[in-house]
Amino acid sequence: MRTPIAAGNWKMNFGPRQAAQFASVIRDPLRAISGAEIVLFPPFISIPAVHQILAGTTIGLGAQNLSDQPGGAYTGEVAASMIAELCQWVIVGHSERRHYYGETDALVNSKTRLALSANLTPIVCVGEDLEDREANLTERVITTQVRGSLGDLPAEQIGRVVVAYEPVWAIGTGRAATRQDAEDVIQLIRALMSELYGQGVADNTRILYGGSVTAANIGEFMASPQIDGALVGGASLKPEFVDIANVIASSKAGA
Ligand code: PGA
Repeated sequence: MRTPIAAGNWKMNFGPRQAAQFASVIRDPLRAISGAEIVLFPPFISIPAVHQILAGTTIGLGAQNLSDQPGGAYTGEVAASMIAELCQWVIVGHSERRHYYGETDALVNSKTRLALSANLTPIVCVGEDLEDREANLTERVITTQVRGSLGDLPAEQIGRVVVAYEPVWAIGTGRAATRQDAEDVIQLIRALMSELYGQGVADNTRILYGGSVTAANIGEFMASPQIDGALVGGASLKPEFVDIANVIASSKAGA
């Protein structure tokens, strides 16, 4: 039984003041939800403010990125061990990191390793872009990304890894994937995890969908037994995120 996840990636929105304000608005409605892990991902500088607001709740907190180095003279970077002082989670290899900051599968793999060794739960993102999809390269691209980003991780820590399938063409576009598209790729990811780590690990790995998730379409995704929750961008900046988390939490009840 895989506990579903509602993850809100705030991206580069909400400085400390606004983050605290918004977190206080959604905190109580979110705490009332059971049956899902709920996690907020504010920008680095707003993490302490949100940490304070969430104190005493089971709502998770995470960072959107981490350094590929364990510490030292790397100006502007934040190490996994530092994140772990306030957070339990971290997003690794989001498509915006891959596209705007040149993150490769090898880099994503070493960041994932560092996240795991700091006891963080990494959400590792993969996804094809529009050109790949139109050229029928989705399977090839996802296979390369999963093998490169998720291969060779320590066996005793692999159970903590969460994967997010986020087709790049669906992110922030209002054009979500169909449930069938998401399900097909998530099935492929599970098969690849099985190749890498065995069927048991594959069956227990939580795989999320991300890309233009809203309160209106989340029910459709969660109706799939393959989809274990969502990584939400735009809609996580609004109280709508509470509705999304509610649907995610109730969808697998009794499954
Ligand atoms: P979106 O972003 O929900 O705004 O499409 C999803 C994401 O990038 O995680």
